Amino acid sequence: MEEISRMKRERLLGLRKAAQEGGGPERVKAQRGQGKYTARERIERLADPGSFIELDKFVLHKCSQFGMEKNKFPGDGVITGIAAINGQKVALFSQDFTVFGGSLGDAHAKKICKIMDLAERTRIPVIGINDSGGARIQEGVVSLGGYADIFYRNTRCSGVIPQLSLIMGPCAGGAVYSPAITDFIFMVEKTSYMFVTGPDVIKAITHEDITKEALGGAATHNEKSGVAHFSAASEDECFERLRELLAYLPPNNSAAHARMPTSDPVTRDNARLKEVVPSNPKKPYDIREIILDVVDDGRFLEVHKDYAGNIICGFASIGGIKIAVVANQPLVLAGVLDINSSVKAGRFVRFCDAFNIPIFTLVDVPGFLPGTAQEYGGIIRQGSKLLYAYSEARVPLVTLITRKAYGGAYDVMASKHIGADVNLAYPTAEIAVMGADGAVNIIFRNELKGLTGAEFKKKKGELVAGFEEEFANPYKAAELGYIDEVITPEETRHRVYQFFEALQGKKKAGPERRHGNIPL
Ligand code: HXC
Repeated sequence: MEEISRMKRERLLGLRKAAQEGGGPERVKAQRGQGKYTARERIERLADPGSFIELDKFVLHKCSQFGMEKNKFPGDGVITGIAAINGQKVALFSQDFTVFGGSLGDAHAKKICKIMDLAERTRIPVIGINDSGGARIQEGVVSLGGYADIFYRNTRCSGVIPQLSLIMGPCAGGAVYSPAITDFIFMVEKTSYMFVTGPDVIKAITHEDITKEALGGAATHNEKSGVAHFSAASEDECFERLRELLAYLPPNNSAAHARMPTSDPVTRDNARLKEVVPSNPKKPYDIREIILDVVDDGRFLEVHKDYAGNIICGFASIGGIKIAVVANQPLVLAGVLDINSSVKAGRFVRFCDAFNIPIFTLVDVPGFLPGTAQEYGGIIRQGSKLLYAYSEARVPLVTLITRKAYGGAYDVMASKHIGADVNLAYPTAEIAVMGADGAVNIIFRNELKGLTGAEFKKKKGELVAGFEEEFANPYKAAELGYIDEVITPEETRHRVYQFFEALQGKKKAGPERRHGNIPL
């Protein structure tokens, strides 16, 4: 009797050991040789020590073609389970490249679906670590079905639980569409890449020569395509970034936000900001200086840092209240709105609205970028995404105009008219249809006609000064109630905190409808 029980125990321990070993020592060595951790090591490094509970460790595939019946590994190339990260519960899957190249067959897909379903039921974030050769070729169309099952769940979970994707190896073909639907994508320099069709296919079809890294590496997707939101120099740095991000996110769309611990006094004045906004409207300055001085402890996690730098998006806290920040950046293209910045900020605003994160918007925008590239690229449709996102947002919205708010861009950047709760302005704000110079050229064309040299300069100067006095200030908008309060830069932190605190209980119902039709 004792002997049977010993044998049963040994069988269990043997299976556990096999599951632990992945594709075997040679393949593990190759994985490490590429500067990558194994699927298990990644979970160990990301999760709080001892917190990981694994599911489906002994799952095997049922494929019997191409000799696959003799080639099985417990777990089938993906590790799934529940863990804690900074004490926050999350569901995880981590693809194991050492087992069939992390490729996805029926059993592998079912494991991922099972953990996603559990995450949806228990309303906790889901984190996917992707390192895979794509659809498992031996399983054929079943693999394609498995991917579709995941895409379907990604879409169902969108806006319900945060979904985060870490790309830590190949992610190619249709497989890219799972991360694409998730909320944030992290990539690691040199070891991760994403593309729909790889360099060989591109060479055959378009005759372009391109490396995997140049086509779909971390730099490409963080700087050029905007597919990825974070880039890290190493896997460890990537885990660190993810932990930072997770600290700002709620577990689901109906959970209350815990306050961020801080000892930064909310009454701290922003003396440093007195001189930040230059009086010359043509002079650039770094809007980050304002953000960093206003938020708690100068802590600001920027999202999409290397993409569309003319708008800044990120997470911070003020008086412990977790907030999102969207800000025009005068340092890049004068902070103009263009296709990329509208799409970047539009998606960010929608994420924050889905997960009840209040939005602080800083405005210094000269308008929309002119040019055929923008018009042909659909700036009309693309720019409307940000307008739409702000208009449908139901979270607390506090807006601060630091300098320019011109034309349609004034309306778009969380103006009072599209639903902002509190609109503030510095005395340096210029809220107008356009800048004084351009406006004078149009409305005083006749007065200026025929004038030349010093005479022209003098007259134009007078007209510009008159226009600035009349329109290029925040007081006309304040008279109309479009601006609730004109504040000094020194008061920014305290005021912004007070308004977010006052808006904590905001409830706004949307109209009865299946969903709106955002211009995609
Ligand atoms: C089955 C696969 C596999 C796959 C890799 N392997 N990809 N097995 N199905 N898709 C296996 C290899 O046979 C090998 O097994 C092991 O994984 C490691 O692969 P290597 O090629 O040795 O590794 P490496 O040189 O690093 O190259 C990695 C790779 C390459 C670039 C990913 O393996 C590759 O090109 N794989 C095929 C990619 C592909 O075309 N996938 C289908 C894409 S279409 P052994 O036993 O030798 O260790 C797709 C559609 C999704 O995914 C559709 C969703 C709608």
